[in-house]
Amino acid sequence: MGCWLLFHGSHLLCCGSSMTSKESIAVFGSTGSIGTSTLDVLERNHTRYKVAALTANTDVDTIFAQCLKFQPSYAAMGVPSAAAELARRLAQAGCATQVLDGPDAMTRIAVNPDIAIVMAAIVGFAGLPPTLAAAQCGKRILLANKESMVVAGDLLTQAAKQGGASIVPVDSEHNAIFQCLPESNRCSPDGGPQGGVSSLVLTASGGPFRQLSLEQMQSVSVDQALNHPNWSMGPKISVDSATMMNKGLEVIEASYLFDIDESLIEVVVHPESFIHSMVRYIDGSVLAQLGQADMRTPIAHALAWPDRIEAGVEPIDFIRLGSMHFEAPDHTRFPCLALARRALKMGGSAPGVLNAANEIAVQEFLEGRIGFVDIAKVNSHVLQQFESAAPESVEDLFSMDQSARKFALDYIEHEASKPVA
Ligand SMILES: NC(=O)c1ccc[n+]([C@@H]2O[C@H](COP(=O)([O-])OP(=O)(O)OC[C@H]3O[C@@H](n4cnc5c(N)ncnc54)[C@H](OP(=O)(O)O)[C@@H]3O)[C@@H](O)[C@H]2O)c1
Repeated sequence: MGCWLLFHGSHLLCCGSSMTSKESIAVFGSTGSIGTSTLDVLERNHTRYKVAALTANTDVDTIFAQCLKFQPSYAAMGVPSAAAELARRLAQAGCATQVLDGPDAMTRIAVNPDIAIVMAAIVGFAGLPPTLAAAQCGKRILLANKESMVVAGDLLTQAAKQGGASIVPVDSEHNAIFQCLPESNRCSPDGGPQGGVSSLVLTASGGPFRQLSLEQMQSVSVDQALNHPNWSMGPKISVDSATMMNKGLEVIEASYLFDIDESLIEVVVHPESFIHSMVRYIDGSVLAQLGQADMRTPIAHALAWPDRIEAGVEPIDFIRLGSMHFEAPDHTRFPCLALARRALKMGGSAPGVLNAANEIAVQEFLEGRIGFVDIAKVNSHVLQQFESAAPESVEDLFSMDQSARKFALDYIEHEASKPVA
């Protein structure tokens, strides 16, 4: 595997505390879990950052309140009727925020030369177009939207290289690894480990069903799946955590971000979620990053790196914590993790196909049309049916994504079991 430098461009060097003008940031997915945590960190550090743009899909109430508070220059909504409603309310309130419309509104924000930093916090494949556009024009991208790296790992990293963009991981595991890597932020370029790194260790909480049998999982409800023991997150990633597909997506994301082979990425279940991930070195050292289960820490780190800023997060009390536990993931009860590893090894479009199937399966589960254990069945079935030809363009990715979604829906309609009562 070739070496890919995570950070490019000298503009990172001017992000230090010596700068005088504010850095302008666009928050994509501002109404979601990551989006609202980002705005919380930005508010605490308002002397350093200016919120220049906000985007959402349908949640007009929340983004309207955010616009009044942060007075961004631009806003955009995925759904046109929501954009029209937001524009109407903002005009009535005398707010100068301009609501961009049209299918390319988000991309226009991503490439706006006045915006230096892009928080990519849209959920799912929908986050890819603005993230890719930001990469092509050399922005500093704070990457929460793991699906875009899973689906378009090669295209996105190439675009960042060519455009001189930097991608700073926000996902807590990848941000932890980033903090534990040597300064080069490389893992395994040709010719052996870089900086003495021998492997990456992603930690997993195990989710709400860690101790359930397969039989018990047949009858879990949506509310139970959304009730993560440690983290408060949006619905899609909460279900992904419950199936452990989230950890599978993270293995793929880590492989592309840090340019490291799948075989060198370990997963260990750590139910307390205090260690966010680790890096092993060839001399036997293991570096770990610890923190509360609060996304404001990795968000603040990604925003300010190489500086540190206030995040509003309580320090860990080790005495109260007492002990930490570790166990191996159970691939029989959580088959999605192995599916993701298989897709990564297959390469080409396989990770994108798996992601598309999973987005459909999770949505169908959330809407009560399939049971929890059917998610893995849908994912496995769709992955088996697709060729893994490498997507050469964004158009290839879109058409692969659409076909895999249609295939998943057909399978659900004809073969997946009916929802549990
Ligand atoms: N939450 C976490 O702790 C966490 C941790 C690590 C990584 N991540 C990743 O971060 C991303 C966001 O997760 P989240 O938990 O914040 O999700 P979330 O709470 O569901 O929020 C998703 C955001 O994306 C917007 N959105 C949804 N569909 C869209 C579309 N088609 N076009 C434009 N905008 C759209 C939503 O707008 P509306 O509100 O209007 O629907 C909302 O602002 C995901 O990729 C997730 O895997 C999350």
